[in-house]
Amino acid sequence: MKISVIGAGNVGSLTAMRIAGDGLGDVFLIDVVKGLAVGKALDLEDARPLLKYNYNIKGSDDIRLVKGSDIVVITAGLARKPGMSREELLAKNSQILKDVCSHIKELAAGAIVIIVTNPLDIMTLYALKTTGFKPQKLFGMGISLDAARFANLIAQDLGLKCTDIEASVIGAHGEAMMPLPGFTKVKGVSLDEFMDEAKIKSLVARTIGRGAEIVANLGTGSAFFAPSAAIAAIVKAIAKDEKRIVGLCSYLNGEYGIKDACIGVPCRLGKDGIEKIIELELSQEEKNKLSKSAESIAQAAAQLLA
Ligand code: NAI
Ligand code: 2OP
Repeated sequence: MKISVIGAGNVGSLTAMRIAGDGLGDVFLIDVVKGLAVGKALDLEDARPLLKYNYNIKGSDDIRLVKGSDIVVITAGLARKPGMSREELLAKNSQILKDVCSHIKELAAGAIVIIVTNPLDIMTLYALKTTGFKPQKLFGMGISLDAARFANLIAQDLGLKCTDIEASVIGAHGEAMMPLPGFTKVKGVSLDEFMDEAKIKSLVARTIGRGAEIVANLGTGSAFFAPSAAIAAIVKAIAKDEKRIVGLCSYLNGEYGIKDACIGVPCRLGKDGIEKIIELELSQEEKNKLSKSAESIAQAAAQLLA
């Protein structure tokens, strides 16, 4: 498998390290900054004898290296600074994405494309519209990271193993994200058996603010350890045809009563990309919130395309 990672910044380089280390394929790391991806790939290559892995990794500043990729992960773009929302990245990152996508369309039209660049949901819809790729093969990573954050905070609060928590988050990867306590289980048992409503609400709020909490502490840039782990899990599900249920920013065409927008929902993921969109039974209030959020994503993408 040829797996290309565009953007050799914090998220891209760690993603390359994880997917190479997992033996998922030959990894190609690409960045517009001269020498950056080459240097990081050389460093990652040197780690092989120490890690006792035989992966292949190559870096370049030439986007044409994407040619013939089976999977392309796009992390190219600016990251948030303290006080900035993901939406404030829109203008610059949409230009970067447009340029990157035009090369993927020309050189790797058969690839499965995973969008990571923020603001994630708008960028995913924008990339779909500008490439004309099938929605099954172009989608975004966002809510699987948010679900991991929710699970981590619940586990910490309860003093349990995080692997015992199955957390559910849908919606936009942003302020409008929707952690779903009703679909979140502790070893199959409802969350409200373990904590009261006020506690659940406070963990939901902390999950929504987790990205910003990390940005504020870092001082420069945004999270990359958990994001790269979330991307690597998605790449693995595709490369190994795992048919796992993963939250993905996916194009909806009637599912959840939403048409022509991309937003985070649970999906079955395998070698051909999204095989099925899973429709959760949401309350009316949840359905309304999801629809409203999808509407604003579609509007923002339409403005970029106008
Ligand atoms: P970073 O600033 O460390 O790296 C971004 C890299 O993209 C830079 O090295 C830059 O040179 C490169 N780049 C810019 N234009 C390019 C182009 N045309 N072609 C190739 N490379 C190009 O940022 P970081 O932390 O790696 O984040 C990357 C993006 O991912 C940001 O937009 C960030 O907001 C987003 N992100 C999204 C997450 C999600 O859950 N969807 C989670 C974490 C980050
Ligand atoms: C995060 O949630 C910035 O989207 C990135 O950490």
